[in-house]
Amino acid sequence: MKKIIIDCDPGIDDSLAIMLALQSPELQVLGLTIVAGNAPVEMGFQNAKKVLKFLNRLDVPVYAGEAAPRKREYVNALDTHGADGLGESFLPEVENQPIPEKTAVEFLSDELRKGGVSIIALGPMTNLAKLVDTDPEALLMAERIVSMGGNFRSHGNCSPVAEYNYWEDPDSAKVVYAFAYEHQRMIEMVGLDVTREIVLTPEILEKMITANPVVGDFVKKITKFYFQFHWEWEHIRGCVINDPLAVACFLNPELLSGLEAFTDVETTGISLGQTVVDSMGFYRKESNARVFTKVDTIGFWELFLTRILQISKKQVQEEFREVYLEKNQ
Ligand code: BDR
Ligand code: CA
Repeated sequence: MKKIIIDCDPGIDDSLAIMLALQSPELQVLGLTIVAGNAPVEMGFQNAKKVLKFLNRLDVPVYAGEAAPRKREYVNALDTHGADGLGESFLPEVENQPIPEKTAVEFLSDELRKGGVSIIALGPMTNLAKLVDTDPEALLMAERIVSMGGNFRSHGNCSPVAEYNYWEDPDSAKVVYAFAYEHQRMIEMVGLDVTREIVLTPEILEKMITANPVVGDFVKKITKFYFQFHWEWEHIRGCVINDPLAVACFLNPELLSGLEAFTDVETTGISLGQTVVDSMGFYRKESNARVFTKVDTIGFWELFLTRILQISKKQVQEEFREVYLEKNQ
């Protein structure tokens, strides 16, 4: 089993990513660390607990992390994720939970130092940049760092050029990419170029409900708001579910392909939060990122649906092929 920590800001798609990770027998989820992003950190903490409760996995520890970006003012994404950060599902609060004895950054530091632990980062990189400040040796011990964030050839979702996680805290993203460069490490960048291909359509959702009504109804409850948002803003039928693709990338890197390049993040001006991917080698700098540009969408859906619905691959192939092929052919 591979040990992972999921650093996240739940968040509708973060929740789907947590579900995928916890239903994957290859993974040992050591804990969830929460960062301010889609939702303020206390709300993200509570949402993580709600998802864990649904999965009957309240044994997985959750640690609250940084409440605001490194330098800039905090801008949440509740317009996308709903007033409760979980698609206005308004699930009941999870009460009587032990108060964690560590902060997210302390937990990351302690666990990474044990070795063989990877990070899947699904929110702004504020906690990780703080770890660079407080315990860089621990971050160096991370086996893999997979980050949902950024965009290369695709347009942004917060500005023409910037994706939310890196736009919300560009200074932290810059610190982490610079750290990777300095120590010859590779960040696996699962950005909008590939996540945009993962659209949960109403047809897939309906089939999910038929295949596993309990999980399907839960997914419907938390994604309803997201569907409306995507229709209003992007004229997409369905919703782009970004974060589970980062977990899928961790589980099966062959689902994605791309290039290796020196990558940096802009922290000021009109292109704030933009990932600058030097694919042509202008800067003559060693690569610090594996930037994905192509995804096997069918492979993703087969992995995601078998895991979260707990059904066989054969059942997925028989019952879902026509609905996800429709969009992905
Ligand atoms: C990213 O930002 C958030 O809205 C999502 O949870 C995802 O991590 C996509 O830009
Ligand atoms: Ca997220």
